[in-house]
Amino acid sequence: MAKKVILEAGRTFSEFSLLTDYTSKDCNLNNINLKSNLGQLSLGIPFLSAAMTSVTGYEMALALGKEGGLGVLPARLSIKEQVDIINKIKGYEMGFVEDPVSVRDNATIDEAVRLVEKHGHSKIPVTDRNNVFLGLFNFDKYLESNETPAENILSIMTSVDELPHTKNSEITVKQAKKELEENNYLIVLDDLGRLEKIAFKKDVENIVVGAAISTHKGWKKRVRACDEAGADIFVIDTSDAYNEFTSKVLKDYAKMKLGKPICAGNVITYEGAKFLMESGADVIKVGMSSGSICTTQREKATGRAPMTALMEVERARADYLKESGKYVSIIIDGGVSDAGSMIIALSIADAVMMGGYFNHFFEAEGEKYDANMQQTTHEPDIKYVATWGEGSSRARNLDRYGHVARKTFFAEGEEGTVENWGRLKPKLKQDIRKIKAALSNTGCMNLKDYHKKATIELMSPYTQNIVGDTHDMKVKE
Ligand code: IMP
Repeated sequence: MAKKVILEAGRTFSEFSLLTDYTSKDCNLNNINLKSNLGQLSLGIPFLSAAMTSVTGYEMALALGKEGGLGVLPARLSIKEQVDIINKIKGYEMGFVEDPVSVRDNATIDEAVRLVEKHGHSKIPVTDRNNVFLGLFNFDKYLESNETPAENILSIMTSVDELPHTKNSEITVKQAKKELEENNYLIVLDDLGRLEKIAFKKDVENIVVGAAISTHKGWKKRVRACDEAGADIFVIDTSDAYNEFTSKVLKDYAKMKLGKPICAGNVITYEGAKFLMESGADVIKVGMSSGSICTTQREKATGRAPMTALMEVERARADYLKESGKYVSIIIDGGVSDAGSMIIALSIADAVMMGGYFNHFFEAEGEKYDANMQQTTHEPDIKYVATWGEGSSRARNLDRYGHVARKTFFAEGEEGTVENWGRLKPKLKQDIRKIKAALSNTGCMNLKDYHKKATIELMSPYTQNIVGDTHDMKVKE
């Protein structure tokens, strides 16, 4: 007889709905922030791209990092590859956005909103027929206003006099950086007031990046090299971290005294999480068998419903906090690929790691294909992006550290394709707005509030039919 047979089914994100709570007037999308801490590391948004060779390389880490998230560079990259990417990210220099996407003064609000949706920028310059800059359309301001999409853009535009701008079109990057200490952006006009370019504060801020490590020999060398290059966090990347190796790495890492947080994972049980916390983990990563490309449950029947795993790890965190006074951050990893799941997961987790979700974008590492499955780099033709798990045969073959396919090898991940969703920023921004809207419904200004106040409720399969989606109607094509 097994030690324990749990007859209550495990739960996943989409089985829950979020209840609303009182919302005050100032609890709106403009005022809500999604900042989150992973140990000492602070993130602008609670998203990590998975340490998968099909997902995270320089382009993904940079694109997500610029939005305030964190790319985690796979441990399957060589030390040199990881270091080169970190160096490039840390050396990324702000430049001006030349020829910013803008609208004319006779445009409707709807036209500007379409540009926001297409490019993901929340501010769109408004110019006259001579390209003279008149002001800015601010999407967030529009959302809080009573204006309708058919109205002229001028009805909502913030005019040039109220905006940080300069008529010195020769301004250098260094001078612009100084100005950006005061403002989030700087609009550069020529002496006739025509729009030249814009500089954004986000582009001068430190972009954070993480490095995955294994528990195999050589991990210390990797940590030292990546630390020197400027990695902000280390992530022990194993499919099952409830073991002696991981604990030893955590203890030895502490002795290195780098002053940077270390994340260990993955675990799915109370005991596993508690063990890693007691071994010194600052952050715990949760999930097994829920990854989009994962075949672990199929191959060896190990895994857990992700929401249940998260709830168990949360229980361990609460106990550990009481015992030690240390708050250990939790990352949920695997099975989150839409805003609804992110919203439910974030009622407990401090951050969400996603592989499949980020794999859909142009910035993902996987090869790009056109509609005929021909490989292409021509952006407008891209329809699909290649994906593969870190435990797939393909990833294993990439391994240059001696763990080449052995006779005993069995794959724990698939290889395939996902649909291309274009560039990361617009979709990410849209999902961020959905999450902020959910926080607003619960009257929460930030994730800390949300953890304290969120109430989620399990739905029965009957309820899911009614509440989960449209019903008794045909959706217009
Ligand atoms: P997703 O967001 O649902 O695609 O899950 C991503 C997560 O799946 C990663 O962060 C890993 O924890 C996990 N994963 C990546 N590759 C494999 C694999 O080959 N087998 C099993 N799990 C994997």
